[in-house]
Amino acid sequence: AQTDVFDSNCMTLTRFVLAKQKSVPHASGDLTQLLTSIQTAVKAVSSAVRKAGIAHLHGFAGSTNVQGEEVKKLDILSNELFINMIESSFTSCLLVSEENPTAIEVEMDKRGKYIVCFDPLDGSSNIDCLVSIGSIFAIYKSETPKEKVTEKDALVRGNQIVAAGYALYGSATMMVLALGAGSGVNGFMLDPAIGEFILTDPNIRIPKRGKIYSINEGYSYLWDPPIAEYIRRKKDPKHGKPYGARYVGSMVADVHRTLKYGGIFMYPATKDAPNGKLRLMYEGNPMAYVLHEAGGIASNGDIDILDIQPTSIHQRTPVFLGSKEDVTELLQLIKSFI
Ligand code: AHM
Ligand code: MG
Repeated sequence: AQTDVFDSNCMTLTRFVLAKQKSVPHASGDLTQLLTSIQTAVKAVSSAVRKAGIAHLHGFAGSTNVQGEEVKKLDILSNELFINMIESSFTSCLLVSEENPTAIEVEMDKRGKYIVCFDPLDGSSNIDCLVSIGSIFAIYKSETPKEKVTEKDALVRGNQIVAAGYALYGSATMMVLALGAGSGVNGFMLDPAIGEFILTDPNIRIPKRGKIYSINEGYSYLWDPPIAEYIRRKKDPKHGKPYGARYVGSMVADVHRTLKYGGIFMYPATKDAPNGKLRLMYEGNPMAYVLHEAGGIASNGDIDILDIQPTSIHQRTPVFLGSKEDVTELLQLIKSFI
């Protein structure tokens, strides 16, 4: 058989989103435009993460460039890219970024109907040692007319999400997208040769049960008893074949592995942090939306993450997500302790 070097009809992310738009009668194309702008931001972040142009920037010297200016930190650069790309797409009115203390109200003449919550570069502790990091985003349609939006218009439940996803800057760059309730999850790998995301993982479904648990075990002295008991059982052969432990410390990488291989990812509340560490609006919700669309579960230990009513844009939530059977087992154990 003849193998072509080029698939002349490959499904790019842009084409995928456009096809979806065309299937909805009277769709304005704004969501397509918005997703294109996020895609552009992600490509630029990916390029920066991979240190493209480093020789030029650093002049083979150090952390200062040839002009003697310090090179911009990756997280700052990523935030600027997300904000600038989204604002200039004329599709959004309000932006919530992990990096900005208050919500960004887009200039009046550039406003559109969407609200975007994002973490432009998550996994800050992994940036300088070159371990996988990612970007996370969730998109909502504003209930308030775009001229009148204020920060509180972003405080809506995750079950109102229109589209959500993430980009993983791992051994390759991948964008994972859930585009509308009931439309599943699709993964697109960046082909650096043509600068396009190609559909490589269509209709991702999380395994019903996995063999991996993922939690920062260094904090075990701060866990609530049910969490400690759950992890103890996962290592005890009397409770079945012990699970493997994996913890990158970048939510995107840990969630993506959980999505692909199954298992459970946990960031519980601790005695020090009663709501855990992860943020609801741009970490918990978008990941919960993706997990649900892939057939998994995401809970705060009590209710579905997507059902939490936010009260402030940077609020935290405990996160337990993954394979249906694994998360259900944990939730039952938590209930049995009450
Ligand atoms: P960040 O927003 O400062 O990058 O923190 C979020 C990250 C997540 O990606 C990850 O799941 C978690 O922090 C790891 O935290 P810890 O180092 O406490 O285990
Ligand atoms: Mg973060």
